[in-house]
Amino acid sequence: MSVTGPARRRAAVVTGATAGIGAAFARRLATEGYDLLLVARDADRLRGTAADLSGRYGVSATALPADLSTPDGCDSVAARLGGVHLVVNNAGMSLNRGFVGSDVADEERLLALNVTAVLRLTHAALPGMVERRRGAVVNVSSVAGFAALMPGSTYGASKAWVTAFSESIGQSVRPFGVRVMALCPGYTRTEFHDRAGIDMSGTPRWLWLDADRVVHDGLRDLARGRLVSVPDWKYRAAVFGMRHAPARLLQAVARDTRGRTGR
Ligand SMILES: NC(=O)c1ccc[n+]([C@@H]2O[C@H](COP(=O)([O-])OP(=O)(O)OC[C@H]3O[C@@H](n4cnc5c(N)ncnc54)[C@H](OP(=O)(O)O)[C@@H]3O)[C@@H](O)[C@H]2O)c1
Repeated sequence: MSVTGPARRRAAVVTGATAGIGAAFARRLATEGYDLLLVARDADRLRGTAADLSGRYGVSATALPADLSTPDGCDSVAARLGGVHLVVNNAGMSLNRGFVGSDVADEERLLALNVTAVLRLTHAALPGMVERRRGAVVNVSSVAGFAALMPGSTYGASKAWVTAFSESIGQSVRPFGVRVMALCPGYTRTEFHDRAGIDMSGTPRWLWLDADRVVHDGLRDLARGRLVSVPDWKYRAAVFGMRHAPARLLQAVARDTRGRTGR
């Protein structure tokens, strides 16, 4: 993967680097020789991840503990993006609650992490990349952003924003040799659903993706210059359906992750 320039001393930032897709990004980029700035809230776990990666792959890996759902957290990461070749805005969250019964502070926290932090860090990274005529931003979105299939959940709306934003900004910086891409996985085995308290025990095994595979497909699509990447043919077929099926049909099959559509 050479979308961010020569292999020598490239630097990447990965948010949400201690678990799931972010940890897979950090591992993969370490194997490619990137020096890493890793972001998450749990400082001990983050330092452990950084030490493990630098010990195993001989790269510089720095832990930057920050809560990206806060302006201060975003500021502290934004201030470190000068000269960075690749930014992976991966940290994100969901809520296991319908909108009407949800705490509005939780909804605002979801929006701050899934949307505002992505905007802030992309905005901080791009001017330097455009000036250098090189660099890339990967914003981890979701297939859930392609249609409102989870009634009452604001998660899908936040990811619809991430995908539309990345596609739009990606077009505007492409003439300068800079890439912005939305990576839109389907169900991926990580800590994500447990954290949100979502019971996924009824989800068929064949629907689950592997985080390393998601990262592999995402970086392949980034190298190909794609603006939107959907790993795995099953989810590409599902997205095709979501984009082309009549809205009424989609609304008829819509269910939240608890299998019902109420509060
Ligand atoms: N898993 C799926 O099925 C799936 C499907 C589609 C899209 N996605 C998207 O993929 C991305 C990664 O999800 P994942 O499944 O890998 O999640 P995960 O396993 O739960 O990992 C989340 C990571 O983000 C960090 N994080 C959470 N809140 C944060 C905050 N406020 N500030 C900074 N870091 C924070 C966590 O560390 P700390 O707790 O220490 O902060 C952890 O490192 C998300 O954007 C998610 O929406 C996931």
